[in-house]
Amino acid sequence: MPYFDDMKTRMKMLCDKEDVFILGIETSCDETAAAVVKNGRDVVSSSVFSQIDMHKKFGGVVPEIASRQHVLSILPVIDDTISNCQGGWDCIDAIAVTKGPGLVGALLSGVSTAKALAYAKKLPLIGVNHIQGHICANFIENKDLEPPFVCLAASGGHSHLYHVKAYGEFELLGSTVDDAAGEALDKAARVLGLPYPGGPNIEKLAKQGDAKKYPMPGKYNKQQHFNFSFSGLKTAMITLVRQMEKDDVSFEKADIAAAFQEAVVSTLANKAVRAAKYVGVNSVAICGGVSANNELRCRLKELCDKEDLACYMPSLSLCTDNACMIASAGYFQMMLGNIEDLTLNAQPGLRI
Ligand code: KG4
Ligand code: ZN
Repeated sequence: MPYFDDMKTRMKMLCDKEDVFILGIETSCDETAAAVVKNGRDVVSSSVFSQIDMHKKFGGVVPEIASRQHVLSILPVIDDTISNCQGGWDCIDAIAVTKGPGLVGALLSGVSTAKALAYAKKLPLIGVNHIQGHICANFIENKDLEPPFVCLAASGGHSHLYHVKAYGEFELLGSTVDDAAGEALDKAARVLGLPYPGGPNIEKLAKQGDAKKYPMPGKYNKQQHFNFSFSGLKTAMITLVRQMEKDDVSFEKADIAAAFQEAVVSTLANKAVRAAKYVGVNSVAICGGVSANNELRCRLKELCDKEDLACYMPSLSLCTDNACMIASAGYFQMMLGNIEDLTLNAQPGLRI
């Protein structure tokens, strides 16, 4: 029987199996990750190899370096994950891999590996949208979370607000019209002389700063729609810093970091809560690298409490890129009957 027909039969059997174990593979940016997750909710084993140190000296991710490093790390990372999983390969029921969005070369290393393994091990192959993966990190962390809810996905490449109507059913309510939240934080950090990745370093520095000292512009973000804009904010901050440097005015970088972080965090939290009220759901979730930001987590919780909304967020290791979230999203995709054949390709511009 050809691979795909065989796998369709297998997938139908898996949908009735009590416990389904999915191997997830993530290589969309600068983390090589693999994980095994049971029934989309329980992490059995997880390995992440971060390339951050390799990209730090360039101030951001260098796509060619990322692709080459994924090729070197992917099999050891998968071996590590499988060896920490009782039963090894015998317990794996299907393979889920990030197919997009992301860097094309980086994605290809994961997709090609997943295809080869799926064929060799005769396992169904599931292609996962990276952002859908970030959203599913919430299902791992919060066993009681069920759709519908509103989810803010804020990462290096995305600031998107979704109405998660059901497993695998998403309505985009709004997104950034220019820079993503993480991208803005990374660029702001560079101007302040902080290393990559900027978000956590801005957060660290902001702790010693006064967020009120330098008011940042936010007219667009205060409007009623659910889109974001961070590029005007970034330009205002850069102009302010450059002007003060030119005029020889002394300033504390911590105050600038705190003001910038405050502008990003308040925008994200306010819009997420307003979106939940607009669509009439009782729960708000956040995900993506920026959701590791403690100010954002506290602000969202505060606003949700005020509005009587339940608030969900993944633990820090599930906010940034990992493969547990890909295995989880893969499980829900497979339950909806979505598997791939071996023509699966990387899709760098994939949308939900
Ligand atoms: O989700 P992620 O790991 O990768 C992408 O899919 O982009 O997100 C990375 C982004 C970076 O822009 C990084 O600066 C930001 O998340 N980030 C943070 C924090 N940790 C990571 N931003 C703010 N505060 C943090 N603690
Ligand atoms: Zn990500």
